[in-house]
Amino acid sequence: MAILALLGLLLAGCATGRLDATKPIGEEARDIDGLMRLSGWMAVGVGIFVAAAVAVIIVKFRAKPTDDPDDLPPQIHGNRKAELTWTLIPTAMLVFLTIYTLPTVFALASEGDGRTIKVEGQQWWWQFSYDLDEDGHYDIVTANDLVIQTGEEVNLEIHSNDVIHSFWIPQLNGKKDAVPGRIHEWRISSDEPGIFYGECVEFCGLSHANMQMRTIVLTPADFDRWVQEQLAGKEAAQAAPAEESPEAAGAALFETHCISCHVVDGAYESAAGGNANLLAGIAPNLTNLMSRTAFAGALYETYQTGPDGEYLRNPDGSLKLNLAELREWVRNAPDMKPARADNQQGMLDFSEVLTDQDLDNLMAYLQTLGSEPVLPATNAGAG
Ligand code: CUA
Repeated sequence: MAILALLGLLLAGCATGRLDATKPIGEEARDIDGLMRLSGWMAVGVGIFVAAAVAVIIVKFRAKPTDDPDDLPPQIHGNRKAELTWTLIPTAMLVFLTIYTLPTVFALASEGDGRTIKVEGQQWWWQFSYDLDEDGHYDIVTANDLVIQTGEEVNLEIHSNDVIHSFWIPQLNGKKDAVPGRIHEWRISSDEPGIFYGECVEFCGLSHANMQMRTIVLTPADFDRWVQEQLAGKEAAQAAPAEESPEAAGAALFETHCISCHVVDGAYESAAGGNANLLAGIAPNLTNLMSRTAFAGALYETYQTGPDGEYLRNPDGSLKLNLAELREWVRNAPDMKPARADNQQGMLDFSEVLTDQDLDNLMAYLQTLGSEPVLPATNAGAG
């Protein structure tokens, strides 16, 4: 039974998880992976040597029936040769590892030549802000999806707005804590387009395990398109929906129930000005909601995916919205992700507040916020 249980544990490691530090994609992650393999194989070598030595010693030096039980084996305490051997060999191994480790540590701490993106950890989701023209004003603010381009060494400024979190995209770099009142600099890069998943890796309360994020890596051309679409989404959000439409009814509901926590740039930025919750950045900026692949701390997919994670499409080629879960999220969020809305951590339960008609109208309005995501070439899915 014990062997079976162990085997089960071992095989569990073979699952194709979304968090995989053993398949590095960017330079930083590769450097870390190289060190991990080097030290790992050295440890394996030491382990095999020690295990073999123990086996040989057990067999060769075991007490024979003819031995006098009071007769001790030769004592080697203070033997200079033995002491030197087991001091110098480990020292040499550690020096060897240090020589390889130090340059990597310094290289990882250096600044990249790409753009800087502000990362904020909050209970329990991540916000990413882009200052495109470096005028101190953030032009694009998004949640859950960190969008970057291939080949760019992106500098992250990692903050926290409440407790300590830790930012980790295993395939792109190691972990970096997000600490209130501090800015931690970190760098990520990727050679290839793709979606790389991450998690908060510092226990930060009730929904710590539900504080996920993803890095969407696009080719430079696709990244430019994403930037243009984000800016266009901001522009479009300022236009009022056609009167008497479900979108207009939804916008009115949004103004009543949502803007004390959520911003839509243009439409509700000024209306909510000075609101204490907004100043704390308590909830995601929803300006380009439809352009994000996930919602609720990246716990749920904005668009429907098939069994292999490929995106499903409507007959007209557009992505299939995951309307059911999005609607349920707006109706009763605490049911879908443990939170403490009473303590400004997570969304309120609106199931007693919003009618079915209200929810339909809100869904219609939310669908006007931004265009669908720009997906990495390798992940577009044919469906
Ligand atoms: Cu944030 Cu754990």
